Amino acid sequence: MIVAFACDHGGFPFRESILHHLKNHGHEVIDFGPQFFEELDDFPDYVAPACQSIISGKAERAVLVCGTGLGTSIAANRYPWIRAVLAYTPEIAKIGRSHNDSNVICFGARTMQLDSVLKSLDVFFTEPFIGGKYQRRNEKLDSRL
Ligand code: RB5
Repeated sequence: MIVAFACDHGGFPFRESILHHLKNHGHEVIDFGPQFFEELDDFPDYVAPACQSIISGKAERAVLVCGTGLGTSIAANRYPWIRAVLAYTPEIAKIGRSHNDSNVICFGARTMQLDSVLKSLDVFFTEPFIGGKYQRRNEKLDSRL
């Protein structure tokens, strides 16, 4: 898949491992940075272009990382057509796909373990959406845009 990636200073410690994992699994990554650690950077500045890339169709999914995953998930869900989930375990990542058809996954580098995050990433790219009543709910979300 074509995957957008973005983080902030809080998520920066996971940046290289996640980028490496994505590329190793055959994904094409659009990297929205930051390229270098900047202690005073702000996650909304990186989340915006990553979400816009999904809205425009340039990317199919996005992976966002901040300190807790909270700021990035709040920011991402402000954009139309974005269904961002804070995947605090691989099991939640699985439900985020099967029930919510998540197209954005958010992690916290200060609150999660890297091995769990990489497992959640694998689930995010393999678990199908099951549709049915969950599709109806997503349509209701979209009808309120
Ligand atoms: C660190 O500034 C932290 O607040 C940020 O990375 C993120 O966790 C916000 O939700």
